[in-house]
Amino acid sequence: MQIDLTVNGKRTALNVEPRLLLAHALRDYLNLTGTHIGCDTSSCGACTVLLDGVSVKSCTVFAVQAAGHDVTTIEGIGNADSLHAMQEAFWSAHGLQCGYCTPGMIVSAVDLLRRNADPSDDEIRAGLEGNLCRCTGYENIVKAVRAAGAAMRAGTPQHSVRDLMPIHPPAEEPPPSGEGIIPPALQGAHV
Ligand code: FES
Ligand code: FES
Repeated sequence: MQIDLTVNGKRTALNVEPRLLLAHALRDYLNLTGTHIGCDTSSCGACTVLLDGVSVKSCTVFAVQAAGHDVTTIEGIGNADSLHAMQEAFWSAHGLQCGYCTPGMIVSAVDLLRRNADPSDDEIRAGLEGNLCRCTGYENIVKAVRAAGAAMRAGTPQHSVRDLMPIHPPAEEPPPSGEGIIPPALQGAHV
C-alpha cells in the first residue's frame, strides 16, 4: 500500500506491504542504515528513531503506522559536517566502542533530554534502560549525556562540547633523552 511520511524533514512516498516494519522500511527502502537491528525481541534499542519527536523502537512499529508522521533517524539528528551536541559528547566522552548501539543510544538520549533537560545520573540510566550496550559498561555513555545536557542548557555551540569536557587530558611532553624510559644505568650506553 502507498504511504506518505516525512523522514528527516523530507516528504517521502513508499509502497509497502502492511507487514513491513519501520526499521526495515528505513534500512531497505530508504538506505538509512544508521538505524540498526540488534535483536528480534524488541529489547536492544539499536533501532530507535524519533516518531513525531518521541523515541520508539522502529522494530516494533509497522511502516504503515508512520504514515502521515515525522520520522527522525540518526542521519537526521546530525551529520559529519554538523554534529548534534549529543554526538559531539559521545565522541568526546568515548561513549562508544564498536558503535553498534550508538545510533539508537544517541536518539534515545536526545529524547531523554527533551523530556528532562537536567537529568541526574540515575535518571540518565533509567532513561536509557531500553538501550543495551555490550561494550562500554555505560559509564562513558552517562558522562556523554550529562555533558550534552550541560552544553544544551548553556546554549553552547555544539562544536564546543569537546572543550567543555576534556575527558582526554592533553598528552604530556615526552621526557628528554629517554629519561624515565631508559634505566639510568643504560642511558648513553650503546645497547
Ligand atoms: S532491533 Fe529493535 S529493539 Fe532490538
Ligand atoms: S558500543 Fe558496542 S554495543 Fe555499545
